[in-house]
Amino acid sequence: FWRLELYDSSLEASNKVADHIAEAIVAFKPTPERPFVLGLPTGSSPLKVYKRLIQHYQNGTLDFTNVVSFNMDEYYQLPPSDPNSYHYFMYDNFFNHVNFKPENINILNGMTNDWKKECADYEAKIKSYGRIHIFLGGLGPEGHIAFNETGSTRDSVTRKIDLVPSTIDANCRFFNNDKSLVPKHALSVGISTVLDNSDEVIIVVFGKNKNWALTKTLTEKPTSKIPSTFLKTSQNTVIVADYEAIENN
Ligand code: GLP
Repeated sequence: FWRLELYDSSLEASNKVADHIAEAIVAFKPTPERPFVLGLPTGSSPLKVYKRLIQHYQNGTLDFTNVVSFNMDEYYQLPPSDPNSYHYFMYDNFFNHVNFKPENINILNGMTNDWKKECADYEAKIKSYGRIHIFLGGLGPEGHIAFNETGSTRDSVTRKIDLVPSTIDANCRFFNNDKSLVPKHALSVGISTVLDNSDEVIIVVFGKNKNWALTKTLTEKPTSKIPSTFLKTSQNTVIVADYEAIENN
């Protein structure tokens, strides 16, 4: 069954998650023919996990040479050079500090002029690896996973998504608080992409502003209205939260 793990602080929780990922990679003994496959998110929630993974690498206890990564999502038509793009975020916060081979890093190309092909190729590439060993994710304030907005179905796959007003509002702070600058579309893996291809799905949820989304995720029956509720349809889901995220205060 899916499960919930609670920690006193986001730091403690993040360190546990990062140590778990590091141990899994080391135990797997990845090779070029048999790489370890990781799914990765952006957002503030995973930042401390990335910090700890970087420390493991710097201490010599973790090697990413034979690790393949797939990022969850990217804004549509925002260039990788834009500091708000998820490309930029991932290199800035993680990839520039560890030793992935560039060809092992997969991020949806938001600048594509053929998003259908880009999304179909991405989905196929994920499936070509067989399994994603660990998919790390965050939870949007309205209960989205990656950019799977309200209305996303359990069988959804990688596709272009129209962002809903609450997501645009939530991300406004990164764009000079100017809504007109926030991209209105994104490319994103689907609910099925994450849940049906992964051995383990770890969702990190921290802070009071996640109270509503976490409560709904835990208590509502799986529904497209709150796509994160579908996490409970996979026995491989682990929701890792701090007490602030779960307490209604
Ligand atoms: C964005 C991303 C999601 C992320 C969410 C929450 O919408 N597309 O993948 O989980 O933000 O971000 P944060 O962790 O900063 O709260």
